Amino acid sequence: MTTRQLKLGFVLHGVGAGWGDWRHEAALADGSVNFKFYAEQAQLAEQGRFEFLFVADSVHITERSSPHYLNRFEPLTILSALAAVTSKIGLVGTVTASYSEPFTVARQFASLDHISGGRAGWNVVTSWLDGSARNYSQAEHYAHDVRYRLANEHLDVVQGLWDSWEDDALVRNKATGQFFDPAKLHRLDHQGEFFQVEGPLNIARSRQGQPVIFQAGASEDGKNFAARRADAIFFHADTLPEAQAYYRDVKARVAAAGRDPAQVFLLPGIRPIVGRTAEEAEAKYQIAASLVPIENALAALARPFNDHDFSVYPLDEPFPDLGDIGKNSQQAASDRIKQVARERGWTLRQVAQWHAAPKRTFVGTAEQVADEIQRWFENEGADGFNFFEALPNTSLKDFVALVVPLLQARGIYRTEYPHDTFRAHLGLPVPPNRYTVAREQAQAQASAPAPAAATEAVAA
Ligand SMILES: Cc1cc2nc3c(=O)[nH]c(=O)nc-3n(C[C@H](O)[C@H](O)[C@H](O)COP(=O)(O)O)c2cc1C
Repeated sequence: MTTRQLKLGFVLHGVGAGWGDWRHEAALADGSVNFKFYAEQAQLAEQGRFEFLFVADSVHITERSSPHYLNRFEPLTILSALAAVTSKIGLVGTVTASYSEPFTVARQFASLDHISGGRAGWNVVTSWLDGSARNYSQAEHYAHDVRYRLANEHLDVVQGLWDSWEDDALVRNKATGQFFDPAKLHRLDHQGEFFQVEGPLNIARSRQGQPVIFQAGASEDGKNFAARRADAIFFHADTLPEAQAYYRDVKARVAAAGRDPAQVFLLPGIRPIVGRTAEEAEAKYQIAASLVPIENALAALARPFNDHDFSVYPLDEPFPDLGDIGKNSQQAASDRIKQVARERGWTLRQVAQWHAAPKRTFVGTAEQVADEIQRWFENEGADGFNFFEALPNTSLKDFVALVVPLLQARGIYRTEYPHDTFRAHLGLPVPPNRYTVAREQAQAQASAPAPAAATEAVAA
């Protein structure tokens, strides 16, 4: 397959991303802890040739959290179960670097990678909810910049541990009794600002070498981290110009980091609503909008502000002055909301409704939705999309039945999985083991002819 292909991810979000989605008639009200439902959605996404499934996560809830956050599966556990009922689709899960030990994370994702035959991906997040600290025996949440410094070191350690075993280190020779070659097993001996980890890891590399790395940085620190370290990057954009601004900015950062921009995939989140006619799509849009009454819109608005309680402000007065609230949470998203409120002179109600209402960008007939997807894909807006269901237990079915065949007919989306590891689907090479590379380089140097100057010196 030579032409550039769309990459689609499906977000397994149980009862839905919003506060009212679970009340939709097709929603399973226990969807976020219903394995049968997860398995059905995973298999449907695989039938639709999606690149990957994505399970988001966070580690702190309050009474104001959304229904899906309140009661949901831990990502590595559910993805391991889904590995057994799928065979091709990538399995991406969030684990926070701020509140986890790299040795454990390396081990868990390496295990998922083996269980799934090379289909694991890690979404490395830094956690924006400050209550997370209190669930991990810490008095204070790390500052935003510290979180990214920590994540960078955490990822160094995890990727270092993943290379503990060279690919041919496990000899397993029953005749000689040699189980492994000790020269090909390596300790990391990491001593850093946040972590001291000896290694080696107690599990070898999988068929894809190492799990694929995802990130979703939106702030300056976040975008730089993502550009330096991620294979695929999630972002939010409501319009094509907004998507283009992020896309061009981050691809330039990727190039500046000495990486190939074509090998780092930028994936905005979308919530398509598809109808057999424009009227049917509009009716479905109105149902989605009806699931966001103002109290739910206020809760959704609070999310990037560390679940700040907006119910204490008058709804129809100018958007409140929030000072630094949000700066240590989702920095870029909360800054943007404050800026839009200021520029447009909106009230709290207007800001909440604008923020939380379903977007109209990917709403329409299958042709209209496919056109919009293609327009973003071909105009530096996206390398693919991360698909959230606007209508739970409905939107994926519509999309796979109606939009996927159109994208396939247009030649921008695969009809079959050409391979069976996640990296191979993405067209990413297997990363060589660092110790194998170092040894081969040392051997090449040792066997290279002596430089001319040295030869002359000996002759003299
Ligand atoms: C599609 C998408 C998925 C995300 N998934 C998670 C997640 O599962 N857990 C999490 O803590 N943050 C998640 N985030 C938020 C990011 O990790 C990050 O906090 C946010 O983009 C703000 O970036 P910043 O920290 O650079 O300001 C996600 C963001 C996007 C766009």
